[in-house]
Amino acid sequence: MKDTVGLLRGIPKAELHLHLGGTLSTEAFFPLYEKYRSAGEEPYLDSQRYQNISKHPVLENFLRTGSGATSFEDFLDFTDFDGFLDVYSLTNCYVRDAEDIALLARAAIAKLVAQNVRYVELDVLFGGHKIIKYSPGDLGPVLDDVAKNAPITVQWIAGLPCFLGPEESSRVVKELVAADFTSLVGVTMGGPEKQFPHAEYAEAFRLAAEHGLRLSCHAGEADGPHSVWSAINDLNVERVGHGVRAIEDPRLVGYLAEEGIPLEICPTSNVVTGIFRDIAHHPIRELYEAGVPVTLNSDDPSFFGSELNEEFVKLHRLGWTEDELLELVENGFAAAFTDEETIESLLDEVQAYVEAERGEDAVLPEVINVPSLAGGVSDEHLHDAPAPNYETGSVEDLIVRVPKAELHIHLAGTMTAPVFVQLLDKYRSWSPDLIGAWDAQAMKRFPVLQPLLDGDLNALRSPDLFQFEDMEQFSVTVGVLNSFVRELDDVALVAAAAIENLGRQNIAYAELTFDLERFSRLDASMVEVGDRLDSISKSAPLGVRWLADPGRDFGPDSAQGLVERLIDARFETLAGISLSGRERDFPPRPFADMFRMAQNADLRTTIHAGELLGSDSIWHVVNELGVDRIGHGIRAVDDPQLIDLLADDAIALEICPSANVATGMYPTLANHPIHDLFDAGVTVILGSDYPTFFGVDLVGEYLSLWETGWAKNDLLEVIENGFLMAFISDEEADRYLNRVHAIWEEE
Ligand code: ADE
Ligand code: ZN
Repeated sequence: MKDTVGLLRGIPKAELHLHLGGTLSTEAFFPLYEKYRSAGEEPYLDSQRYQNISKHPVLENFLRTGSGATSFEDFLDFTDFDGFLDVYSLTNCYVRDAEDIALLARAAIAKLVAQNVRYVELDVLFGGHKIIKYSPGDLGPVLDDVAKNAPITVQWIAGLPCFLGPEESSRVVKELVAADFTSLVGVTMGGPEKQFPHAEYAEAFRLAAEHGLRLSCHAGEADGPHSVWSAINDLNVERVGHGVRAIEDPRLVGYLAEEGIPLEICPTSNVVTGIFRDIAHHPIRELYEAGVPVTLNSDDPSFFGSELNEEFVKLHRLGWTEDELLELVENGFAAAFTDEETIESLLDEVQAYVEAERGEDAVLPEVINVPSLAGGVSDEHLHDAPAPNYETGSVEDLIVRVPKAELHIHLAGTMTAPVFVQLLDKYRSWSPDLIGAWDAQAMKRFPVLQPLLDGDLNALRSPDLFQFEDMEQFSVTVGVLNSFVRELDDVALVAAAAIENLGRQNIAYAELTFDLERFSRLDASMVEVGDRLDSISKSAPLGVRWLADPGRDFGPDSAQGLVERLIDARFETLAGISLSGRERDFPPRPFADMFRMAQNADLRTTIHAGELLGSDSIWHVVNELGVDRIGHGIRAVDDPQLIDLLADDAIALEICPSANVATGMYPTLANHPIHDLFDAGVTVILGSDYPTFFGVDLVGEYLSLWETGWAKNDLLEVIENGFLMAFISDEEADRYLNRVHAIWEEE
């Protein structure tokens, strides 16, 4: 079985809003430029945007001299819609004859096929530039030929630039109709929407409809809701290109939903042209929830970096469920400008694909039954805990709904079975070099892992993989699974599943601990790692910051070196340093220099201590490392003086009760010291540690406290502690706390 991202990439899709000119790339543009230059036709800058050419110096210089740029990306210097139209228009005036169009079309179709696009409506410009040498009459047979020979269904939409003006547009439509080519199914109008009122083009659109062409129009992209109303009322369009600014008019949103008028939405395009701040602020979700038939499209992928599959993946990372995204896929086919029968058969293909993927057994069962280390707290591994469903008004329901902070969670401990299977199938290779020397040594002790040392990957498919004999086996297994995170894309994959799960629990803010040693060995520089983590955080629907864990097991020198590199490549969403690993073999003291260095660089710090070792180790940590928080720290319960110190100095303990029970430290939650520590005034935070390995989650941790008799207000205090002790500013914490109280006090 594929995970959601795999499923979305593989599923047959429809693309309804793709400009052929938007696929102009390095491979296509430079040869086209050369073709016309060598024919003595350059420079030929008749573009309607010519007056703006000096705003784009690289492009201007290149068009005049043929030098100063080697990649199409060199021209993409725009930051708003107008700048985009300049660059679009000035580059596309080198697409001049039918041969150029056919060349672009074949390359575009190949890229669509690679993304499993099954049906596309390609927008080809008619009347864009005076230099254009093709007319509907001679282009028609070429477009028909491209469509006929494509391995997927290709239909054409004639794109009329609005700056043609009403008369010229009507004339082009008449020519199109007269050319009578079968793969042309519709017309749309694009360009600088704001400057050309749609109503004036009613005649052109009426003529097109009269001759059986279907109608769409760019509206509500660069201009507001009135432009969408006009496209609907004056032009009689069936679909709207973009249409996203309909969100400013609730009556219009209601109308689109009621009438079932599909929007061709292109989220990344709208972000790059500055219409919305980022994908998280894009109204697609609101439109979808209002019942508007939303379709997902890429617009101009070479200009926006907006390949269709990635549009789906981005929404998935924002928390859209697989079923919701499938609905968008279906909307794309349902809104296609083709007959009902074709739509039905395409939808059948989608259905068949989903059934085949979902029905097929996972290589690893999705839920792996394991008696935990303690002999049975958790019987489920590597899976997301089920979404709880409680009675409205109950404390349980409140716990689920209230915004929470998760401060103690290892990214490697969030891997789900589908994610792991995907990575395993991606690499199909393993060697002990991928894990630390201590783990590699320890592995030899565990029969289930031994075959892996000889390169036999089937060991990882053994149902006994998660039957841990002890803590050591647990650590090694985490290390082995984590060693399949080898590229930034793998990090993104694991993080997406983790963040989705956090979102489902209404966690509003999380500090995710990542394995700095592993990440330093990814196929990427530390700066690239930081950039990717920043972008994961920025596209997350909740606050996400990162804690880098250099790992005890590699010793203090390694930790110091790694943290030094990290500080050099410091990135925005890095909150601080955490340190975990074999506490017994690598006690805290030798890491003092590393912590000092981090603190001098204004990084916040936390360390796992007092989980396996006793209260002495916590004293060392408190006295010598100056950390802000302590991971676990539960053994402090043995030492009343230490308890007082922690309480007085408000040094928070990140406590993960289920993890401690699962690793056999306490037989049940009732025996866990969290109750005594809290009663003694210690600042307690709850965390889930390695949630998928132990089959737990943060909501479950709060529910367990409630079930063992904690007062409702005490739960609130722990929830508040999560935000108060987070590595964020006081103002940010206050904002979260206001949200907490708004929910808590509404009861
Ligand atoms: N032409 C190509 N892409 C366009 C867009 N996003 N809006 C208007 N016209 C366009
Ligand atoms: Zn467009």
